[in-house]
Amino acid sequence: MKIACLGGGPAGLYFAISAKLHDAAHDVTVFERNRPDDTFGWGVVLSDETFQNIAANDPVSAGAIKPHFAYWDDIAVHYRGQKIVSTGHGFSGIARKKLLQLLQQRARDLSVDLRFQTEVDSAAELAKTHDLVVAADGLNSRTRSELAAHFKPAIERRKNKFVWLGTHQKFDDAFTFIFEETEHGWIWAHAYQFDSDTATFIVECSDETWQKFGFGAMSQEENCRACERIFAKYLGGHRLVSNATHLRGSAWLNFPRVLCERWSHDNIVLMGDAAATAHFSVGSGTKLAMESAIALANYLHTEPTMQAAFAKYEDARRTEVLRLQSAARNSLEWFEDVERYLHLDPVQFNYSLLTRSQRISHENLRLRDKEWLEGAEAWFQRLAGAGDNTIRRPMFAPFKLRDMQLKNRVVVSPMAQYKAVDGCPTDWHLVHYGERAKGGAGLVCIEMTCVSPEGRITPGCAGLYAPEHEAAWTRIVDFVHRETDAKICCQLGHSGAKGSTQLGWEDMDAPLKSGNWPVLAPSEVAWSPRNQRAHAMTRADMDRVRDQFVAAAEMAARCDFDMLELHCAHGYLLSSFITPLTNLRTDEYGGSLENRMRYPLEIFRAVRAVWPAAKPISVRISANDWVGAEGIQPQDAVAISRMLQEAGVDICDVSAGQTSVNAEPVYGRMFQTPFSDRIRNETGMATMAVGNIFEPDHVNSILMAGRADLVCLARPHLADPYWTLHAAARLGDRGETWPQPYYPGRDQLYRLSGSTEPIPSAV
Ligand SMILES: Cc1cc2nc3c(=O)[nH]c(=O)nc-3n(C[C@H](O)[C@H](O)[C@H](O)COP(=O)(O)OP(=O)(O)OC[C@H]3O[C@@H](n4cnc5c(N)ncnc54)[C@H](O)[C@@H]3O)c2cc1C
Ligand SMILES: Cc1cc2nc3c(=O)[nH]c(=O)nc-3n(C[C@H](O)[C@H](O)[C@H](O)COP(=O)(O)O)c2cc1C
Repeated sequence: MKIACLGGGPAGLYFAISAKLHDAAHDVTVFERNRPDDTFGWGVVLSDETFQNIAANDPVSAGAIKPHFAYWDDIAVHYRGQKIVSTGHGFSGIARKKLLQLLQQRARDLSVDLRFQTEVDSAAELAKTHDLVVAADGLNSRTRSELAAHFKPAIERRKNKFVWLGTHQKFDDAFTFIFEETEHGWIWAHAYQFDSDTATFIVECSDETWQKFGFGAMSQEENCRACERIFAKYLGGHRLVSNATHLRGSAWLNFPRVLCERWSHDNIVLMGDAAATAHFSVGSGTKLAMESAIALANYLHTEPTMQAAFAKYEDARRTEVLRLQSAARNSLEWFEDVERYLHLDPVQFNYSLLTRSQRISHENLRLRDKEWLEGAEAWFQRLAGAGDNTIRRPMFAPFKLRDMQLKNRVVVSPMAQYKAVDGCPTDWHLVHYGERAKGGAGLVCIEMTCVSPEGRITPGCAGLYAPEHEAAWTRIVDFVHRETDAKICCQLGHSGAKGSTQLGWEDMDAPLKSGNWPVLAPSEVAWSPRNQRAHAMTRADMDRVRDQFVAAAEMAARCDFDMLELHCAHGYLLSSFITPLTNLRTDEYGGSLENRMRYPLEIFRAVRAVWPAAKPISVRISANDWVGAEGIQPQDAVAISRMLQEAGVDICDVSAGQTSVNAEPVYGRMFQTPFSDRIRNETGMATMAVGNIFEPDHVNSILMAGRADLVCLARPHLADPYWTLHAAARLGDRGETWPQPYYPGRDQLYRLSGSTEPIPSAV
């Protein structure tokens, strides 16, 4: 086969080598515009795993590369006058120039025709004289632009500015992050050694800081001097150097995130940065380039046709690329939003930095550096008031809100049971909530409990609007208090336009087949075309409903609930006032966010006035309507939380969505946690995170990184009422209390979980 590799970077060269290894008869030419040793950039990082893949593909080039690796295990973070070091991270770096020289030599040895200083104007032209063109022409791929109609690229330029510099200062003991506060804002460096006397030194900052420094108007030389002054105390008198001669001006860049819908067209295929990029902070560009080269060379050999090989290549590599791009997006967004975290204690800041891509979990950090993690856990427990010598996972730290003391940070999220009769909880509720309270969670939040019959979602919804409701809830609360050390929270709500609908396991949100009741909403809207239009609330309706909330709160106080939650999420009445999607009012309760918040805040204040001062109140919000700029977006949720905080709400329960039938949520593990993170770290308000959080590892990393104060799990608690006790047993934590009659079961579980920790009290 006659093959052209357009570009002599890691992708082009390594594909040429791999193709030749599969079949020495291939006629392979690499076209590269630069000279052989004329390369931009400094060092690249490769993980052990990538190196093993390279070694399996071609032991010869791997053998040549290996002696040139610089290895380091530690990550050091300089922040607010402290240097925090953690270990066990295992990286290796190599000079990009050296890597390319070794690959060039290997390619030559395999009779690849290397043509340097050869500019290719058109991949399509090259394709006429070659069987296959591998377009590995890098980040600014001309091929990708030339054939944009086929590849359909999406290129997103990210917010931060960065510049890739080098230095002879040694950073050989650790991959080093340096955060410096300057008169123009924060600026930081990512520094790592890649040969015996040179280190990469990437400087990054926000666009605002960059503008204030005037970096854009500086020459590369002036830039280096300015950065030297900023980072002088870490450079030991060494200079910062640029070798970006291929770039005009100051050489600062905005990272372009590249993704293409298709990677091949006729006999042309994209590879490496030309096809997709992953942000430098996860250090995977060279990995993606070389592993894609291995995959394509392999499929061309194993598949019957070139098109079949392309299909397999795209299929297999796209999944890997998307996985890495997702981690890279988390990581780059962390750096874009870093100013949000710069108030954190150095311990928590470091943890947040290490777990930013969400690829490294809490327990994974323990494997890397147990001592450091235990130090961080001890810090967390100390701050939570657990005493000086407690080393336990963050999920087992106590938490105090007003006078309510929770034994741990796990919350059973409110979940409608649809088992009430005329609003009255039944034995189902006693057993259901009793079991969850026995199961170890610090706080059990009961389902949305409705303040009036017409405020129910379905005929099976629970209420707190009649004396028998109060008696039934009192029995449940008494049980929880008498038999467990969990606290119990009452969620109060009104269904609004989503009321008068079928049970959760019937046709959810659809109107009742018969016996519908009229529904209320801020405006005359219907939840969906099949639901009835709501009656737009008059001021008299608003007074009545407010009084119903107050009466329900008074009953909840008499029931002795430990906490109250106002349900202002998921499209129900109070939520439908907040979102502009359903609040079309033109009076003082509609229009601006301030106006739309007026009625929910009025209800909160009225309820707060009758709720015992020692007990907290939370408000659950939908932090994202998932409809773009038309609805609530995460930045609006920050403004909402500020208003709640000012009104005296103790904690914000940060949910999202269910406010519009047109919502397009982006699901994933912990997918709503970023909203909680943002609210907590931008407003300082305590938060609860919820949404697809199901592993103890998720809970611990959310808490330790300061993304929430409490973590709610809903569905996991339907599957396992004993989620917390089981998690503790699995993790070898012996500090959680089990119900006494269950001790033999506990002891057996402890033994079976294989931990050598002693069982605290024998039976
Ligand atoms: C600041 C920064 C830090 C990075 N850090 C890391 C890291 O730590 N680890 C890591 O793995 N990766 C890192 N990368 C990414 C890495 O450098 C690239 O992802 C990797 O080099 C991609 O390889 P490639 O072969 O696709 O493209 P490139 O290496 O860009 O190679 C493309 C080649 O094509 C040539 N070319 C382009 N157009 C033409 C043309 N028309 N005619 C002839 N030749 C042409 C170019 O001269 C170039 O040599 C970093 C990138 C940046 C910007
Ligand atoms: C069966 C069921 C009923 C629910 N009922 C309520 C409710 O009454 N009030 C509420 O705020 N959220 C309710 N939710 C939402 C959950 O509290 C939680 O926010 C959501 O399920 C996401 O968490 P998860 O991924 O842990 O399940 C309900 C969820 C389920 C699965």
